[in-house]
Amino acid sequence: MTDDPNAPRPGFSHRTIERNVTLLGFLALVAVAIGGIVEIAPLFWIDSTIEKVEGVRPYTPLELAGRNIYIREGCYNCHSQMIRPFRDEVERYGHYSLAAESMYDHPFQWGSERTGPDLARLGGRYSDSWHVQHLKNPRSVVPESIMPTYAFMATRPLTPGDMRDHLKALARVGVPYTAEDIATANDDLKAQADPDADTASLKARYPKSQARDFDGDPKTLTELDALIAYLQMLGTLVDFNAAAPQETPK
Ligand code: HEC
Repeated sequence: MTDDPNAPRPGFSHRTIERNVTLLGFLALVAVAIGGIVEIAPLFWIDSTIEKVEGVRPYTPLELAGRNIYIREGCYNCHSQMIRPFRDEVERYGHYSLAAESMYDHPFQWGSERTGPDLARLGGRYSDSWHVQHLKNPRSVVPESIMPTYAFMATRPLTPGDMRDHLKALARVGVPYTAEDIATANDDLKAQADPDADTASLKARYPKSQARDFDGDPKTLTELDALIAYLQMLGTLVDFNAAAPQETPK
């Protein structure tokens, strides 16, 4: 080697690469591709990126119809369904959300805005009649509330369309509905909100599903029935007391 920086060097040096734009471009591509392959390739050999959690099941047809109303009304604009793993969140809302808890959500309802509280573990926190009151007129139970009123849902009959098609579409993107779930979807929808119906088969196929008249009006199947059925199941599927590895110290 000489002291002259421009003097030719022996062999295949960095100088050769930097002076040949095609070679430089090609080798840069190879270097970047290695990073990409290391990140992406393993995903093809693992079954799922989501750890399975006991208790998580697909929505019942009635819960699904309620979820559609939740999306239609844009409740996600003011409510998140994603408890972050921070102490203040866990103390207020309960155990932080697991990926598996929204694995059957298409699309997921994590949200990005909290004008109102997070709803991921809402199920069972209030009675059905509290929800009826609150949705009809939020100010009647929470005087300072700025939530809109949804009183029309109490009288509007539920018309979700053919739930069999809905379940079939979800099955196609990987939600494990069985042939029986799909065939009985429309009957399951009605049975879950009918206090006189036989719900043994529904409850066997959808563990922890709650069947009753949700809106205080057993005669009509309303949009409010479906929405409250959905709200009352949120966050109730996984039993964190049985698992309980990470209770925050009080
Ligand atoms: C404009 C924003 C806004 C929209 C839209 C909205 N909410 Fe709310 N929601 C709030 C606020 C603020 C609160 C807190 C005060 C209260 O309890 O009313 C709240 C509270 C709630 C609560 C009580 C939660 C708790 O833990 O105390 C429920 C349940 C609820 N909303 C459901 C809904 C549903 C279902 C919809 C859609 C049909 C909806 N909200 C739409 C703002 C909103």
